[in-house]
Amino acid sequence: MPVFKAVVVKNILAVPFTAFTEGNNSVIVRNSSIPFDILLVKKSNGIYTALEMKCSHQDNPLTANKTGLFCSSHGSTFDLEGNVLKEPALKPIKKYKTEIESSFVHIIL
Ligand code: FES
Repeated sequence: MPVFKAVVVKNILAVPFTAFTEGNNSVIVRNSSIPFDILLVKKSNGIYTALEMKCSHQDNPLTANKTGLFCSSHGSTFDLEGNVLKEPALKPIKKYKTEIESSFVHIIL
């Protein structure tokens, strides 16, 4: 999974379309000012989903693959919309608003 180190300007993380490499519809967005990475997913309808990679069970970091997110602490899994697929987590993971601006996806923090 590619990692893109984004800059925060006025509570916005700007990710260029070019951060999505060939064959990858997801990119991990990282910035030292945010405690958890964000998984940015490009869907087939041109909509982008930005998910905080923090487990909703006990706040541990999640790992991502092409189909979803996984927590190694107690085994919860989530789909690419942040919904719980496997407990013990009960709540979806946090989703950030996104906007398209020129050739960038803006993640609103
Ligand atoms: S902290 Fe993720 S499943 Fe418990």
